[in-house]
Amino acid sequence: MDLLIKNICCIGAGYVGGPTMAVIANKCPDIEVNVVDINQERIELWNSFDLERLPVYEPGLDKIIEKCRGRNLNFSNDISHKIASADMIFISVNTPTKKKGLGAGQASDLKWVEASTRQVAKYAKGHTIVVEKSTLPVKTAKVIQNILKSDQKSAEKNQRRFDVLSNPEFLSEGNAIKDLEFPDRVLIGGESENAINALSNIYKRWVPNKKILHTNIWSSELAKLTANAFLAQRISSINSISALCEKTGAEINEVSKAIGTDTRIGNKFLSAGPGFGGSCFKKDILNLVYLYEYYGLNDAADYWNSILKINDWQKKRISNYVIDKLNGTVSGKKITILGFSFKSNTNDTRESPAIDICLNLLEEGAILSIHDPKVNENQIRNELKERNFNLEQNWSFDLNIYKNINESHAILIMTEWEDYQNLDWQKIEKLMLKPSWIFDTRIIADYSQIKKTNINFWRVGKINNKENQSFI
Ligand code: NAD
Ligand code: UGA
Repeated sequence: MDLLIKNICCIGAGYVGGPTMAVIANKCPDIEVNVVDINQERIELWNSFDLERLPVYEPGLDKIIEKCRGRNLNFSNDISHKIASADMIFISVNTPTKKKGLGAGQASDLKWVEASTRQVAKYAKGHTIVVEKSTLPVKTAKVIQNILKSDQKSAEKNQRRFDVLSNPEFLSEGNAIKDLEFPDRVLIGGESENAINALSNIYKRWVPNKKILHTNIWSSELAKLTANAFLAQRISSINSISALCEKTGAEINEVSKAIGTDTRIGNKFLSAGPGFGGSCFKKDILNLVYLYEYYGLNDAADYWNSILKINDWQKKRISNYVIDKLNGTVSGKKITILGFSFKSNTNDTRESPAIDICLNLLEEGAILSIHDPKVNENQIRNELKERNFNLEQNWSFDLNIYKNINESHAILIMTEWEDYQNLDWQKIEKLMLKPSWIFDTRIIADYSQIKKTNINFWRVGKINNKENQSFI
């Protein structure tokens, strides 16, 4: 008989834990879902009355929280009790790249996974299914099993039993609710048929059976790293082509469309930009590289490393281009940065390409005026400080786009927010210092309007900047 899950606990109330559990609670009103975290402030924000203050911005998330919170969805710091009452525990904690020690700069730091597993080992009761939701190196399930088993004595005493499953998350930020409600697939890796069925039965409430894939546990762990590596590889590939377009007169959008209509290639993830950001692509590829090196597969490690090199190169060449066009110096010049999040529809700034490009310009003495509709000033401060940039007087933040732009030499569009798609370029022309420049790394600004002004412009992967018009 299938195991019936009545109570779920998710350890980690972040960008994955929060939205994922909200959707499960919404789809399964008979299951109590408790999301716990060591971070008190984060939990307070998840519980805030004003839904604008939720710690994660995702379109549609506020409505689900409003409906389910206090019904069968709860956020708390009461980790021990929520673990004790759960039949199924999702581990959804952060797994960043290790900063020091063995594997520093490459391997994932599993200290948060270990710590939460130890909490499960300590507090769980009866039969508990432990689900890896975090992205983990292949073979981590073994580490989790070992920690849980090491408490075997008391486990026997209390008749406790654990099954470990891998159920990686494929949601992308900004689309999380849609991705969770209509996933391309749900992947479940494990050995215990009962445990696999118990988890599948939860997803089956809204995901068609044929989309629920069962694999062995190592395939599931490796498939997650591989999916992110392949996605990142596509972006580095198209970004490398964008540079060639700028030299030759080919247009990146046209090239993307032409290759994307080949069903073997497919049309997604072919937008050139300032380089990929987000908390996962870089760390997951670094983790893959670490695994290759660990197993002595060095040429394959180099191959995947090159995806990261191209990503850095794209950011650097854009920074250099901006400096070059502003007469080789940005020192003392005001530049407006439109967008700081790593993509639109999220307030997440982790590994955002805006960080590196801003730092490159700040190091050259530029004065930056930054706008983002969802990222707050403190987040930007923290990102810059973390990278040892402390000259606060060299940048400012304002929620009024036109105030930012006033007296700027240049505008740099970093994130594809809708707010930047229909700007008043006639008004902007009057506000900017001359000669004025717009650098559009996302190809979203209304080009037909900019052309009516005297603003110089550059768009990634295109040669149609004013300076080059004689070539066309
Ligand atoms: P996050 O940093 O937003 O959230 C992790 C949370 O875990 C934090 O709030 C932290 O305080 C909490 N935590 C850490 N240790 C804890 C402990 N011992 N007990 C209780 N809480 C603890 O991270 P995230 O973006 O949600 O990512 C989580 C995992 O999911 C990572 O492995 C990531 O690679 C993976 N992932 C992320 C995304 C994404 O879009 N962000 C998508 C798919 C997979
Ligand atoms: C990515 C994957 O898409 C998810 O499937 C995965 O679950 C997640 O990582 C994870 O494991 O964390 P996410 O990082 O949220 O999701 O966002 P993406 O839409 O993948 O974008 C990543 C970066 O690539 C962004 O900076 C985005 O602007 C950039 N990008 C994306 C491009 O430059 N061009 C594209 O065509 C697509």
